[in-house]
Amino acid sequence: MDCIEALLGRRSCRSFLPDPVEEEKLKTVLECAIYAPSPANKQPWEFVVARNPEYNRKLRENAEAAKVYLAGRSGWKWVPSFRLDFVSEAPVLIAVAGDPSQSGLEQFAKEPSKGYPQACAAAIENLCVAAHSMGLATLWFSMFDKDGAREIFGISPEKDPVAIVCLGYPRQIGAAPRRWGLENKVRYLD
Ligand SMILES: Cc1cc2nc3c(=O)[nH]c(=O)nc-3n(C[C@H](O)[C@H](O)[C@H](O)COP(=O)(O)O)c2cc1C
Repeated sequence: MDCIEALLGRRSCRSFLPDPVEEEKLKTVLECAIYAPSPANKQPWEFVVARNPEYNRKLRENAEAAKVYLAGRSGWKWVPSFRLDFVSEAPVLIAVAGDPSQSGLEQFAKEPSKGYPQACAAAIENLCVAAHSMGLATLWFSMFDKDGAREIFGISPEKDPVAIVCLGYPRQIGAAPRRWGLENKVRYLD
């Protein structure tokens, strides 16, 4: 699969098979993650790989509570019925923790741009696309309470659990949600 095909074909997966992820493939997706760009090459990320169903159970409990909280605060009607089975199913959970102290030079700028979540996001996307190119599937997951996630995955208080990637073989993947066309999102200044 070439790079463009992988980028256009990656989809969020919300239904995983129980099949384990091969060691070699796991290593490859993590290797792709750490080759993402980062401010001043600070590499402000840490990946915690959890492969024991006990972590899925704890994260599901955390996420169910976070869902109730977010449903109340957002008022969004779809949130209460959003199913979190994929959190229980994914054979691998990868917690991505960012280090705010490693945000590069722009953290001293007049309008600091928070380099670390950007770098973590680049790493996560690399991971997701690499996984897709090898027949795996991912979900970039953020519906959890951060303090609870720190406790579950042993992340220190000064680090930011930016996201948890659910990784595994897909049972089912939906069609690509509609994108706004380039005409809505791109301006050319020729
Ligand atoms: C920062 C971020 C947070 C996300 N959090 C969640 C989440 O908590 N739960 C979920 O089901 N999907 C989550 N997603 C996935 C998006 O819903 C998904 O990428 C989007 O709908 C487009 O679909 P696609 O990934 O299949 O192209 C998240 C994606 C990003 C980039």
